[in-house]
Amino acid sequence: MVTFTGAGISAESGIPTYRGEGGLWHKYDPNLYASINTFLQDPSYYWSFFRDVRYPMLKKVKPNKSHLALAEIEERGNLKTVITQNIDGLHQEAGSSSVIELHGTTRIIYCMTCSQEYTMDEVFFMLEVQIPPLCSECKGRLRPDVVFFGEALKPQILALAYAEAEKCDFLLVVGSSLVVYPAADIPLKAKRMGAVLAIINKETTPLDDLADYVIHDEAGKVLPRVVKLLK
Ligand code: APR
Repeated sequence: MVTFTGAGISAESGIPTYRGEGGLWHKYDPNLYASINTFLQDPSYYWSFFRDVRYPMLKKVKPNKSHLALAEIEERGNLKTVITQNIDGLHQEAGSSSVIELHGTTRIIYCMTCSQEYTMDEVFFMLEVQIPPLCSECKGRLRPDVVFFGEALKPQILALAYAEAEKCDFLLVVGSSLVVYPAADIPLKAKRMGAVLAIINKETTPLDDLADYVIHDEAGKVLPRVVKLLK
């Protein structure tokens, strides 16, 4: 099995999803806070969002029952890879060892000129002094290692994810609205290559009709039961 996860799997850790009820993009316009054009023109939107919202949130969250269940299913030998759209690093923290981060990670920040890497903590302290933060080596601009809207996904990462999806017998989607492409191609590719497709999501998704199994419920209720059944 391969799983494909989205913001819904981290919702029960206290990280708001992007769409749907209470979604981040209702409060923060993604054209200002998550687009590469705005980031290059005026990075202060992103960095104030990082300082006031992202950083405090990521500092306090922990993996939840769903992340832990997937790590346990991997340990049992039933799950090969987690392909995630999330940038929170919670799958790795839960113990999943094979994680493909399609949209990158907020936890790494690097200089756009000399590639020097910084941790979130280091950049948070820089932000107390100035926005945007500048590289302490070369004074270049910093950016998070995430894929902004308007940017292409890293080709090697996408190719790896497609290859995993096309090889698997069972593709389990957890907590994604399946509306953002090319990420949402992953379940389509798996299905096209003959995999069984299952979706666990609180709300309906555009791929529900195509799936072999659909469970509209909270992942934290469903995945621990899957672990129990496997045992
Ligand atoms: N259990 C299962 N599903 C849940 C839960 C839960 N506890 N809570 C919320 N959901 C569902 C919602 O119903 C919603 O359909 O998770 C889905 C989250 O959808 P989105 O917010 O659209 O998140 P995602 O699919 O990951 O978004 C994809 O969009 O903005 C970009 O880059 C961002 O990676 C993100 C991409």
